[in-house]
Amino acid sequence: MLSLRGLTKHYGDLAAVAGIDLDVPPGTVLGLLGPNGSGKSTALNMIMGFVRPTAGSVSINGHDLRRSRQAALASVGGLVEGSAFYPYLSGRRNLEMLAQLRGLPMRRVDEVIELVSMGRASRRDFGGYSQGMRQRVGVAAALLHQPSLIVLDEPTSGLDPAGTREMRDLLPALAAEGTTVVLASHLLSEVQQVCERVAIMQAGAIIASGDVESLLSRTGRWRVRVRADELEAASQALRALPRTGAVDREDRDLLVETTADGAELNRALVAAGVIASELEPVLPTLEAVFMELTGNGEIR
Ligand SMILES: Nc1ncnc2c1ncn2[C@@H]1O[C@H](COP(=O)(O)OP(=O)(O)OP(=O)(O)O)[C@@H](O)[C@H]1O
Ligand SMILES: [Mg+2]
Repeated sequence: MLSLRGLTKHYGDLAAVAGIDLDVPPGTVLGLLGPNGSGKSTALNMIMGFVRPTAGSVSINGHDLRRSRQAALASVGGLVEGSAFYPYLSGRRNLEMLAQLRGLPMRRVDEVIELVSMGRASRRDFGGYSQGMRQRVGVAAALLHQPSLIVLDEPTSGLDPAGTREMRDLLPALAAEGTTVVLASHLLSEVQQVCERVAIMQAGAIIASGDVESLLSRTGRWRVRVRADELEAASQALRALPRTGAVDREDRDLLVETTADGAELNRALVAAGVIASELEPVLPTLEAVFMELTGNGEIR
């Protein structure tokens, strides 16, 4: 669906994007992660045709962006910012005007309103909308021309938890429609929930990519949270186990880095005369993987 080859953008001496390769299959939701200044927005802006690459290529739906710009861009939709809408017109009317401008049938407006679940609010003035509803109109506008790829640069920035959640729920629905989604985000737990694939950027390069599951199991640490009264004795018993790494104290719990299962841990605790009231696996998080990979790399 989307294919990048050696995509590069230089600003003077700075390689904002330093030759990235990426393939995103159709219907995938891909999360683009990276510290501030790592080149995410620059990469997305090149994909949407807003920024001209210094080198390399972008291919969308089989169309090379440089050679067949119109065809390539016809397949992409980017989130339209709230400022592009008339506040004194309803969300629906705003979308109708856009559709008219682009020569699209009016029934497409009903379809996108349905897709982003704007419901009756679509008839109220845009000016009175919450941030979440504005974002929805932005996504609806991006979908009007039925792009096969939609690009979202931090779609939940400025949204409250409810708005963030609504936006998040929207993404899998888009992917189910066959739309490919590429989104840049700083919210790692969110990306972990909605994206099947991720690419992690640092200093203009992609330093890791693949499906979330395998990234987590390859890099993530498996830990178990142990709650017990006698934490000192528990800690000693657990440290002595094979296949067990660091044992850290966190409030009234121990966090045990281990590949041993619960039964094995429990047996060791009982043998040491410790009763555990809780044993709970702590799944690796994208956040932990991200921190491990990007370290505290300097921000450019
Ligand atoms: N128009 C520009 N002119 C000069 N430098 C730029 C320009 N746009 C971006 N940069 C620089 O390129 C680098 C990458 O910026 P970019 O905005 O792509 O990062 P980002 O990953 O989106 O960061 P953030 O997480 O803060 O949004 C930064 O060092 C930035 O200062
Ligand atoms: Mg950015």
